[in-house]
Amino acid sequence: MYCVKKINSDLYWVGGSDRRIALFENAFPVPNGVSYNSYLLIDEKTVLFDTVDHSISDIFFDNIAHVLDGRSLDYLVINHMEPDHCASIRQAVMIYPDLKIVCNDKTVRMIKQFFDFDIDSRVITVKENDTFSSGRHEFTFVMAPMVHWPEVMVTYDLTDKILFSADAFGTFGALNGNIFADELDFETHWIDDARRYYTNIVGKYGPQVQALLKKASSLEISMICPLHGPVFRENIGWFVDKYQKWSTYTPEENSVLIAYASVYGNTKTVAEALAFRLADKGIKNIQMYDVSVTHPSYIVSDCFKYSHLVFASTTYNAGIFTSMENLLMDLKAHNLQNRTAAVIQNGSWAPTSGKLMTEILSQLKNVTILDGTITIKSSMKDNETDSLDALADNISKSVLSNR
Ligand code: FEO
Repeated sequence: MYCVKKINSDLYWVGGSDRRIALFENAFPVPNGVSYNSYLLIDEKTVLFDTVDHSISDIFFDNIAHVLDGRSLDYLVINHMEPDHCASIRQAVMIYPDLKIVCNDKTVRMIKQFFDFDIDSRVITVKENDTFSSGRHEFTFVMAPMVHWPEVMVTYDLTDKILFSADAFGTFGALNGNIFADELDFETHWIDDARRYYTNIVGKYGPQVQALLKKASSLEISMICPLHGPVFRENIGWFVDKYQKWSTYTPEENSVLIAYASVYGNTKTVAEALAFRLADKGIKNIQMYDVSVTHPSYIVSDCFKYSHLVFASTTYNAGIFTSMENLLMDLKAHNLQNRTAAVIQNGSWAPTSGKLMTEILSQLKNVTILDGTITIKSSMKDNETDSLDALADNISKSVLSNR
């Protein structure tokens, strides 16, 4: 049985989706599943662009056999060696013993690290701007190191103006028959998963994504074929603009995200009281998370979206509450920059979380920490809200001055 989609005159999507996976990369929840895309070109020579995760290899090879319809597979272009895409290379070589592999020299080294089949006898090594012809189609290669591994490259079809973009422009979410983003209400229903994918997978590497966008800006692109999620053939500029914002750490939403860690609800109450004050002052679309309830990948993603971030944490073991500390270290690891932040601490006898959170936030580039860290001693009383009023004032003035 096969499930393929013809996406151009001679190009086929031959990937598949996994809806049973709990954690992508054993780290990120994917309640909507994930797709592993692979593309097969039927030209004078047949060319496969990347393989797939082992979880869907059965249908993948059925798909390839169906599209090949008795022909041999001549070339495999490897854009990225992470095992969610390269896991099926050895099987491909076993099924198609004359298969030639087109990749760069860093990829060759990684193939030798992951596999023990003979690569040297079948490899065609390419460099930046090299060209390769399969007959009607001519391709060129653009190196994209650290988007998301060092060996990553993207392949551009000079004939049909198609960009095989590797992880770039990928999205969490299984493909459910509709392969194209314009069939999916992508801008409303998929964008949050697209942002969560970008920020958590390649968010750390903004300058490298910028370098790729700069190179790609000289290309006329009719279609983007990423390794995860839908194919883009319309409104490409809209998605490129999102990548511009994300990779320059530019907020999309001039508003406030409040993340709190609360053991018995007193820190939560103050976080909510702050949110209500901000709303009264005209701040719209305020977002709030309990960091012990929501997986950090969602909060990291929204921290890339929002301009103003408030972190409220109880003190725990003389430090920051664990789930809040994890979130802050995650934000640091992902190089979040260019934000305005505020801090609220709680502690029944020796509050220290505010100072410690501020120390982590101070290590982020171009993050302004607003004056007026609030200290709660166990709980805030109605006659102790001056500091909260002042912080709400400070934050709202900062938000409104950005408009
Ligand atoms: Fe989808 Fe970096 O692999």
